[in-house]
Amino acid sequence: MRCIVLGHTGFVGKNLTKYLSDKGHEVFGLSRAQCDLRDYTQLSKKLLEFRHRGIDAIFNCAANVGSVHYVTAKAGDVISDNTYIALNLYKAVLEVCPETKVVNLLSNCCYVDGTQIQEEEKWLDGAVHPSVFSFGNFKRVLYYISRCYEMQYNIDSINLMFSGIYGPGDSTDPNKVHALNGMIIRMLESIENNDDEFEIWGTGKPIREWIYIEDVCKILLQSLQLEKVIEPVNIAQGKGFAIAETAQNIAKATGYQGKLTFNTDFQDGAPIKILGMGKFADLFKDYIFYDHQEGVNQTVQYYREVL
Ligand SMILES: NC(=O)c1ccc[n+]([C@@H]2O[C@H](COP(=O)([O-])OP(=O)(O)OC[C@H]3O[C@@H](n4cnc5c(N)ncnc54)[C@H](OP(=O)(O)O)[C@@H]3O)[C@@H](O)[C@H]2O)c1
Repeated sequence: MRCIVLGHTGFVGKNLTKYLSDKGHEVFGLSRAQCDLRDYTQLSKKLLEFRHRGIDAIFNCAANVGSVHYVTAKAGDVISDNTYIALNLYKAVLEVCPETKVVNLLSNCCYVDGTQIQEEEKWLDGAVHPSVFSFGNFKRVLYYISRCYEMQYNIDSINLMFSGIYGPGDSTDPNKVHALNGMIIRMLESIENNDDEFEIWGTGKPIREWIYIEDVCKILLQSLQLEKVIEPVNIAQGKGFAIAETAQNIAKATGYQGKLTFNTDFQDGAPIKILGMGKFADLFKDYIFYDHQEGVNQTVQYYREVL
């Protein structure tokens, strides 16, 4: 198979590029250095260069994205950069390679706010959480664009909904960290500083679902076998971990011996956020996810090397 990974220098994109190459597929990467995806002319020119060799799939891992703080502070840039990228992508696919499948990574932040178990059929039944207004709404726009290009032009898209992704290769940029890698970075600092206490922000009770990067790569490749999955499919494990449990898992992986304390000046988010299992078990029969503690161990190992 020949495919393009948009955003091949990012966390997901670089892992996916390696995974696909290791499986023997021919992969072309496009990130800012090769082409600014906000510029239609640059993108269509790049796709034309690849077209004569054939393009089976485009994995859309490019985005202007970051932490909750980042997507709020940069809300205007986030919605406009990402929407331009999405519009340019579909327009260029239509003009250059309309037979190519587009695989989009949606994220559970685009779900309606307030639901604990995020069921696919209800994902648009209300507004996104205000803290992710720009990015959550953009992901909905991405879905609408894909759907409209399918309705009118029969462009084939696969829309997959992911929980928080973690693993080696993730960012060290404070603007991009999430709860899991943020705690890994802080706990490694605590070890370095010989701190005898590690502070968990909030009560530690909220439950969050995490998916290891290797599963993301495997599932993205396997998804190409599916027929017509324009309606989002939750990549769901049916379980999550309390933030306090995640901190304990990180302590196990790092060997941190200090006490875990809770700073309740920090507000908790929603009590539970887990993707509903509606379609996943049917579409990805017998899929076995990577062991969570082992994933945390691998991620800690990576951060020990890069920090
Ligand atoms: N990470 C998660 O927990 C998670 C969870 C669910 C879904 N997702 C989705 O997965 C996708 C990838 O996320 P990530 O964590 O890998 O993000 P990331 O590490 O920030 O990578 C973003 C990539 O997009 C590229 N990019 C940004 N703007 C561009 C532009 N104008 N032109 C060309 N390339 C551009 C970046 O290229 P440069 O390096 O050249 O800037 C980089 O390669 C996103 O759609 C995200 O919503 C991620």
